[in-house]
Amino acid sequence: MRSTSPSSRDSFTSKFGVIAAAAGSAVGLGNIWKFPYEVGQNGGGAFLVFYFFFIITIGLPIMISEFVIGRRTNANAVRAFKKLSPGRPWYFTGVMGVAAAFMILSFYGVVAGWTLEYIYQALVNSFKGMSPAELSEGFNVFLSNPVRPIIWQVLFMILTAIVVIGGIKNGIEKLTKVLMPVLLLIIIIMGVRSLTLGTNIDASGEIIGRSVDGLKFLFQPDFSKVDTDVILDALGQAFFSLSLGMGTIITYGSYIRKDNNLNRTAVQVAFLDTLIALLAGIAIFPAVFYFNVAPTEGPGLVFTVLPSIFQKMVGGYFWTLAFFLLLAVAALTSSISLLEVAVAYFAEELKINRVKATIITTIMITSLGVLCSLSNNVLSQVQLFGRDIFASMEYLSSNVMLPLGGFLIALFTGWAIKRSDFYAELSNEGTYKLKMFNALYFIIRFIAPFAIGLVFLYSVGLLG
Ligand code: TRP
Repeated sequence: MRSTSPSSRDSFTSKFGVIAAAAGSAVGLGNIWKFPYEVGQNGGGAFLVFYFFFIITIGLPIMISEFVIGRRTNANAVRAFKKLSPGRPWYFTGVMGVAAAFMILSFYGVVAGWTLEYIYQALVNSFKGMSPAELSEGFNVFLSNPVRPIIWQVLFMILTAIVVIGGIKNGIEKLTKVLMPVLLLIIIIMGVRSLTLGTNIDASGEIIGRSVDGLKFLFQPDFSKVDTDVILDALGQAFFSLSLGMGTIITYGSYIRKDNNLNRTAVQVAFLDTLIALLAGIAIFPAVFYFNVAPTEGPGLVFTVLPSIFQKMVGGYFWTLAFFLLLAVAALTSSISLLEVAVAYFAEELKINRVKATIITTIMITSLGVLCSLSNNVLSQVQLFGRDIFASMEYLSSNVMLPLGGFLIALFTGWAIKRSDFYAELSNEGTYKLKMFNALYFIIRFIAPFAIGLVFLYSVGLLG
């Protein structure tokens, strides 16, 4: 607990703790599950170009804005806006963020539950000797079971709630510090194995697939594949992966000490997050092409492809188990950041105690998640806007609410906060010089909102 803080709010102890926690939030299923399947569905390289572009021109400036808003106010995602702009409706951005947290965590908990199932399957060695087709079949059988995925989802949500109740610095820092570097290492090793798979030839001498084609898919942009969906998906993915647009970084920013260099923290987190997504892509796509799996398979992609890579590795049993364990932990350090947004809001605004707030929110989110899970089997016919419940939650939150939240956050930072206040907070009251401040400020005021607006208009068909 900070002695300088007048309130009893928790805070991160060390500089590394801040980066670890924010990186722990950013790095998760978004990098290893969502990123590869989005790349696969959106034609590969061209999607990647837009994704990178959005990370730098929109993601990074908005991450800095969120950090500043959070630390300046030392408040939850709703009150932060009220404090900086009293009596104005900006706080609506925070309310929408809390709603987005509910929606994201509902399907996020489901996918995280799948990772628990895979830890279990890895433990009992059931992937051994299975062909890619059998692995894919196995995944579909699991998904079509109405009960089993829900049991794992509920278990995962309980774990999330326990960590959130445990408090910020105890819960998050320790976990991330140790496990993030290990995850990075395993992904690199997987990448090496995937890249060296070579050419897959069947018994009759026919070529099934080649791993180099995966690299080409990822790095040779084919702009003829770009349509409105590709661009909006890339924007949504940039927000989702960096945990932006809904107050996670505002809330975490409120726990950051005044002497932390927010600029540098944001750059480091964005860099690490993008690196891990890219490495996950390098691990997955060569294998996708080698085993001749359809890159467009969707949310099941990594669950069917990754065990195939491990089968080709010495010590495959160990690698599979270690990987899914770490993936579950990475999911946990992200899910707690989602739950924290809702809990901080309910606990502080509705004045209920934190434990109660955590339990109530977890139950509500998990219930919504049960519907998401059931949409893979018994509720598959229930459609909203042509998508099942799971896909609607995912689409509406990542592609609509997060970019909209980001749009409002950029406008808020650029126009509602005083420039001198923004500068003071970002430079730690003038402690260090901000060389690129003018450029950053210009991007936040004009470029970021304009670009997001453009993508929106384009994707609803208003720009041809
Ligand atoms: N970024 C996380 C991931 O990639 C998910 C996440 C955590 C998130 N907090 C968020 C996404 C806030 C959007 C907004 O797995």
